[in-house]
Amino acid sequence: MRIFLDTANLDEIAEAAGWGVIAGVTTNPSLVAKEKGRSFPDLIAGITALVSGPVSAEVMALERDGMIREARELHRIAPNVVIKLPMTAEGLRAGRVLSIEGIPTNMTLVFSVGQGLLAALSGATYVSPFVGRLDDVGHAGMEVVADLVRIFQVHRLPTQVIAASIRHPQHVVEAARAGAHIATVPFGVLRQLVQHPLTDLGIARFLADSKHAQPK
Ligand code: E4P
Repeated sequence: MRIFLDTANLDEIAEAAGWGVIAGVTTNPSLVAKEKGRSFPDLIAGITALVSGPVSAEVMALERDGMIREARELHRIAPNVVIKLPMTAEGLRAGRVLSIEGIPTNMTLVFSVGQGLLAALSGATYVSPFVGRLDDVGHAGMEVVADLVRIFQVHRLPTQVIAASIRHPQHVVEAARAGAHIATVPFGVLRQLVQHPLTDLGIARFLADSKHAQPK
């Protein structure tokens, strides 16, 4: 499984890229809105300068032609820009056209196995089931991830599953266990994944012990 960073913050992306563990980035309009002072295309250009893997940028239009227009403009910024489309009938229609044009897409706001299957059949490069938001309303979000992975394998569909709306480190582990191709992770969760209190304790003990070592 690969890890993408779920953020539009350039400092977080630069920091995580330095750790050598992220293979791409996903953004959404809420994350972009937090980054004041830069236009959306400028922000996406900044992200693609830091990350050579897929960078998802979401369209704001709700009908097919507007989505396609925005998608072509965003994809012109850099070849690794992936177009995030909302999981609607218009999103499916736009995705079909973009897949024929060879522009990669990420079908977002997927909350059911049926939606994910339709997205794959329409030619989506990625589908993003929102695990945390499903958990919030009492559904087992990770089951949608596991079912989609299994179905895409059985039917040899090339679409990759991005476990999205990740809330804590255990979600990342469960996504890997479920066979997700990718988990897109907020920076705070990535930092939590790095840390363990026993690691800190171990370092402190080694340091203390090394001070008492006999000189040779
Ligand atoms: C996915 O690509 C979305 O950006 C993201 O995972 C949404 O997660 P949230 O439920 O934390 O907003």
